[in-house]
Amino acid sequence: MLQKLSRFAGEKILIADDEQVIVELTSLLLKKRGFEVLTAHNGLECLEVVNQQQPAVILLDYMMPVMNGLDALKKIHVEHPDSYVIMFTGKGSEEVAVQLMKAGAVDYLQKPFSNQNLLDRIDSVLSIRQVEIENRQLIKEREFLQREIQEWNRELEQRVMQKSRELELAHKEIILAEKLAALGHISAGMAHEIRNPLNSINLFAQILQSAPELDEENCEYVQKISQEVERIDNILVQMLAASKGNQKDKNRIDLPRTIAQVLKNYQVQIDAQQVEVATSIDRNPPMIQADPVEIEQIFTNLIGNALFEMPAGGRLTITLRSDAEKLSVKVSDTGRGIPSENISRVFDPFFTTKEKGTGFGLSVVLRIVNGCGGKVKAESVAGEGASFLIEIPLLPASVH
Ligand SMILES: Nc1ncnc2c1ncn2[C@@H]1O[C@H](COP(=O)(O)OP(=O)(O)OP(=O)(O)O)[C@@H](O)[C@H]1O
Ligand SMILES: [Mg+2]
Repeated sequence: MLQKLSRFAGEKILIADDEQVIVELTSLLLKKRGFEVLTAHNGLECLEVVNQQQPAVILLDYMMPVMNGLDALKKIHVEHPDSYVIMFTGKGSEEVAVQLMKAGAVDYLQKPFSNQNLLDRIDSVLSIRQVEIENRQLIKEREFLQREIQEWNRELEQRVMQKSRELELAHKEIILAEKLAALGHISAGMAHEIRNPLNSINLFAQILQSAPELDEENCEYVQKISQEVERIDNILVQMLAASKGNQKDKNRIDLPRTIAQVLKNYQVQIDAQQVEVATSIDRNPPMIQADPVEIEQIFTNLIGNALFEMPAGGRLTITLRSDAEKLSVKVSDTGRGIPSENISRVFDPFFTTKEKGTGFGLSVVLRIVNGCGGKVKAESVAGEGASFLIEIPLLPASVH
């Protein structure tokens, strides 16, 4: 029966004992059971072998020269947790045994011991060791997986947040598009219905004004009526522009020329307000296909807004860049800028901070740029001016 190989045959077992007879006999016994046997004769030698060979089990004598078994045990327990120690103790030393178990021994054997007892203890310690090592491995794997799951969760959270932000933005754009569409329906109808009686009011005001019996004070009132009527008419015209449908006259447009033309239209105001104009425009950018009236409207509105913000001097900067895919235009001013709470609302139809503004200008810009498949956004540091950036994609058919 003792000749049978252990199911743990091949495992390394270190015998550390200063009694040569015990070392030799135990060696013989363990080798027969198929173990790889290592030997040491004192605590220090034992530690060296453990460091080099990491045996599965160490049979460690308590009383040894140079370094005793207890000191060696303590070191092994800390530095080599996968090497399990069975202590050999003298007879009747239960107290020592308790001390050894506390210091990390997994078992102890009182000398003299029977061969069978030793082999049984070794096999049982190796079984426990196998289970515990597997457990430790599983715990490590579990910790690793938990860390990975946490990492995935973090990534997922970030992606969900990113998607929510995109969704929120898309939602805002849809709402704006719906507002513009609603505005289109209402204003097209309103413009017709209101402009006719408005024309009549204007006409009657003119008749009144030329009446010979009209005194100076009443003449002034009639003039005011005419002015207000004109203002209403102006609003209606802008509403119509903001809602204009798809019936555009598409043409090849030379953007630098359009910009120069709009600046010329504003020249008197620019001079009067002493605004410095700086343009930086790519030479010969590709032409785009669009409605020239609409493209002119973009710059009329942007430059008009910029000049409004700089009544007593400032700098208007216009840049135009092009690459293979798009035209990029930037219109910047050094006016009061847009407060951060307004920046997401400036493209809303009806949004205005001006006493006499309609709040249509930028919604018209947005509709036209979107109609060209492009994007427009506002940037501003309050107190330091505002910039409007437009990107219009170039179709493959775009020409120089
Ligand atoms: N360059 C700018 N600097 C600071 N604020 C601006 C600028 N451009 C636009 N805004 C803000 O955006 C609002 C909306 O502009 P938008 O052109 O749509 O209408 P408006 O200028 O108020 O009216 P209208 O165009 O009929 O004169 C403005 O009232 C202003 O508050
Ligand atoms: Mg405006």
